Amino acid sequence: MIGDKKVLFSGMQATGNLTLGNYLGALKNWVSLSDEYECFYSVVDMHSITVRQDPATLRARARALLTLYIAAGLDPEKNCIYYQSHVSGHAELAWILNCFTYMGELNRMTQFKDKSAKHADNINAGLFTYPVLMAADILLYQADVVPVGIDQMQHLELTRDIAQRFNAIYGDVFTIPEAYIGKVGAKIMSLQDPSKKMSKSDENPNASIYLMDDADTIRRKCKRAVTDSEGVILYREEQPGIKNLLDIYCACTGKTPEEAVKEFDGCGYGQLKEAVGEAVVSVLSPLQERVKELSKDKAYLDGVIRSNAEKAQYISNKTLRKVQKKVGFPERPRQ
Ligand code: TRP
Repeated sequence: MIGDKKVLFSGMQATGNLTLGNYLGALKNWVSLSDEYECFYSVVDMHSITVRQDPATLRARARALLTLYIAAGLDPEKNCIYYQSHVSGHAELAWILNCFTYMGELNRMTQFKDKSAKHADNINAGLFTYPVLMAADILLYQADVVPVGIDQMQHLELTRDIAQRFNAIYGDVFTIPEAYIGKVGAKIMSLQDPSKKMSKSDENPNASIYLMDDADTIRRKCKRAVTDSEGVILYREEQPGIKNLLDIYCACTGKTPEEAVKEFDGCGYGQLKEAVGEAVVSVLSPLQERVKELSKDKAYLDGVIRSNAEKAQYISNKTLRKVQKKVGFPERPRQ
């Protein structure tokens, strides 16, 4: 708890271009949480270097993501928005937690298995201990809730195990975090293969709508979306392509699937795709405008980056100092 609010922590990597799926499924829903929770949203650049990155690209993307957080409506006065690498406690706590995590546990992580298959030439120790750094992110702020996708659930479970193990030895040091189950965002699927999640790392550029795609590109990608040969617009599992288009439409317009089905009654797929394209453009265009405006205001952004990191550093230090004391590190002389 901070004041009378529960704490919420989440992070996103700045690798790859964010997609409409990231926005509708996560970011957009974060905006409404700051009234209820004390929110920390980190750009987790330290996680990103577990796979090789071009330094200039990583730096630019990290800034773009932080800008996007704010453009999407996360008020940096109400939410703590910062770069993970600016707060030293993440690495410091991760080291300590490494000593409370078993090789066997990390070996079982499916993301580690997937990523080491994908980057067979660079299976580094950071990739292996990635979930421990994530545990440090969460536990450092005594987070009560963590909004994560299903792919990160295993890491959150591990975080809970590490925290419980630590608490069992040293007393109640860490809050045990829970997955955030509130209003979940729409799950947006690939436009080219609606059985797969829309992903920022899809090789097929037509599969994903990127947040910075221009209006014509968005319209074209919607037009090319894979559908079926049923010829009717209904919201059902048997028509995954159409269902996905309706989901996108509803997430962008705030309509329910029933309303949308009624609206498109008797229409052809072409009309649906056109309407989806327009709905997406009407959501992303203003967002892109805000990103552009904000990017121009370097002084403002730099101020936010500094003040939010200071706040994160201050709050996280409380947990870090407590943990350091518990494990037996000598007290620091007063400055
Ligand atoms: N590993 C998460 C992902 O790739 C990102 C992340 C890092 C995160 N630290 C976190 C998410 C802490 C939630 C909480 O999606």
